[in-house]
Amino acid sequence: MSTIKYPLPPEVDPARLPRHIAVIMDGNGRWAKKNKLKVALGHRAGTENLREIIRNCSDIGVEALTLYAFSTENWNRSQTEVEALMQLILDFFHSEIDELDQKNVRILILGDKSGLPGPQRQVLEQAEARTAANTGLSLNIAVNYGGRAELVRAAQLLAREVQSGLRTPESIDEAAFAGKLYTAGLPEVDLLIRTSGEMRLSNFLLYQCSYAEFVFPEELWPDFHVPQLHRCIAEFQSRSRRYGGREE
Ligand code: IPE
Ligand code: IPE
Ligand code: MG
Repeated sequence: MSTIKYPLPPEVDPARLPRHIAVIMDGNGRWAKKNKLKVALGHRAGTENLREIIRNCSDIGVEALTLYAFSTENWNRSQTEVEALMQLILDFFHSEIDELDQKNVRILILGDKSGLPGPQRQVLEQAEARTAANTGLSLNIAVNYGGRAELVRAAQLLAREVQSGLRTPESIDEAAFAGKLYTAGLPEVDLLIRTSGEMRLSNFLLYQCSYAEFVFPEELWPDFHVPQLHRCIAEFQSRSRRYGGREE
């Protein structure tokens, strides 16, 4: 086994890691402002910490890491900002895909790829196809993703199956429904992290976060690194997850 660059600190129990971590990477704009830089540079800084975060999740044995990169609502930003974000998607995959593939990471895109410009769609589809058979960390990137749109899409897919006689309405249970989400086959989200101190979901993984533990670190996303991730995992491990039951 290769050595782990950032081993877990003693306060994190390696036997009780979250299986699925989801991250709302928020605060790039405020980071740029704070550093008197253009917003595009804030977004760029917000991709520079990604490599270590992804690598560490893979090294410590997290099964799934889901990153919110671009929401269906983010189209409401200026054309310049949207273009900068779209360019970063291309740059990220060009620079990272070889190492991710070599680390056995499987890439899955959550969201409506058909609504993206051609080059971005192509790069994302290629990354998914190239890593489809990998068996390590599942790296899920939400691009042009909206939680409500995902739920509506699942309902439509199921309705079509009923209409064509493939299933009955009664056969639609939670497992069938979850099977039509972009996250089909992944474990439920255990830990949801949103950086920058904001405390809302912003249309992210509405179904999948039903029993997630939420942690809201104060750091702006470009200032969030592996030690901060480990602190969030320690916080997760300090919580009592009751799932509606009663603690013994
Ligand atoms: C999050 O940073 C990145 C994306 C939404 C793509 P923001 O750009 O939302 O940063 P703030 O919230 O303005 O600081
Ligand atoms: C959520 O952050 C989307 C991403 C991080 C990609 P936003 O900054 O867009 O969310 P709001 O506008 O604060 O709710
Ligand atoms: Mg924001």
